Amino acid sequence: MFALTGIGHLVTNDETIGQGKLGVLNDAAIVADDAGNISWVGKQADLANHFDGKPTDVGGRAVIPGFVDSHTHLVFAGDRALEFESRMQGKPYAAGGIKTTMAATRAASDDALAANVARLASEALASGTTTLEVKSGYGLSVHDEARSLIAAKTATTETTFLGAHVVPPDTNADDYVALVQGEMLQACKGHAKWIDVFCDRGAFDVDQARAILQSGAAAGLGTRIHANQLQQGGGVQLGVELGVASCDHCTHLSQLDIEALAGASATTVATLLPTAELCTRSPFPDARKLINAGVIVALASDCNPGSSYTSSMPLVVSLAVINMGMTCDEALWSATAGGAQALRRSDIGNLRVGSRADLVVLDAQSHIHLAYRPGVQQVRAVIRGGKTAVGSL
Ligand code: NIG
Ligand code: FE
Repeated sequence: MFALTGIGHLVTNDETIGQGKLGVLNDAAIVADDAGNISWVGKQADLANHFDGKPTDVGGRAVIPGFVDSHTHLVFAGDRALEFESRMQGKPYAAGGIKTTMAATRAASDDALAANVARLASEALASGTTTLEVKSGYGLSVHDEARSLIAAKTATTETTFLGAHVVPPDTNADDYVALVQGEMLQACKGHAKWIDVFCDRGAFDVDQARAILQSGAAAGLGTRIHANQLQQGGGVQLGVELGVASCDHCTHLSQLDIEALAGASATTVATLLPTAELCTRSPFPDARKLINAGVIVALASDCNPGSSYTSSMPLVVSLAVINMGMTCDEALWSATAGGAQALRRSDIGNLRVGSRADLVVLDAQSHIHLAYRPGVQQVRAVIRGGKTAVGSL
């Protein structure tokens, strides 16, 4: 059991606990039980009735829920620094770069893949991410997709089968779609909670994506989709039709796409990935327009070696505020509670009684500083499941 006190600004993401949608409490304290769950949260003056040990004083700092990064591709080998360099000299981003990483991933040992996942998961944790979703998608064979998911499982229970990332070289698209729906799904479903398809130019079309997602759902997996990253198309509307948990990217949306997402807000989240736009010099999606239309927005890093080689959720929050029209409150909500909703979880992304004691102590007075000080390391400590995982207090 432990308690934090002296919290100048506590974001709970529970409107019944504190002010506004972020449920902010000032001069607050929080208590976690031995199972790593929150057992009490409230005003510091009331702590004595709920905790009889020695609390840890955080000296007036801000405390926020741990970030829930609901979209990453951490299972890979190699990097694509040269591709990045040539992109910065004017070459456009294309889905084909995935094949470069596929070759390196297939050549890597199981231990090397798991080590890469561990390296990036610990980098993410250091910047405040306490829950990660991790996709396969660089193996693109039955054996390599299955072992990619086994590597993903070493870091998270939120694993996603993305066999349908691109069609591997020298393979017929129809044959590959049948393989993904058949033998590959059978080999992977025991290691995955979710299935995802990259539905876009150079990847899979709407009919292929529908068939794959329906097979995944029939096999018991939850569904999510990479949609409308490279151009407008039917990906978002397919996601809404199938009731996926999340349509991700949403870079190029029509008015009909926005209306479809707004109408599906009870089931489907739009997950925006601004570091992918940053690193591919693409236009940022207009989050303001989405939120005003009634769409539920999540924010995630898309950490991968091609389009977004960063795991920093504070950077994602900064970009969402500075370039996408989100308020500081909205961006933090979307990077925590929004990510949890994209994973259909209510036990993370908030700091209410019964939820996981996953939280970040900031070297700042409030969450506004996340956007206000882009690129600055402001994480003082990260507590995950009630235990200090990063830093010291
Ligand atoms: O989300 N869009 C598809 N997949 C990744 C990029 C993968 C890559 O370029 O390696 C993404 O941006
Ligand atoms: Fe992605």
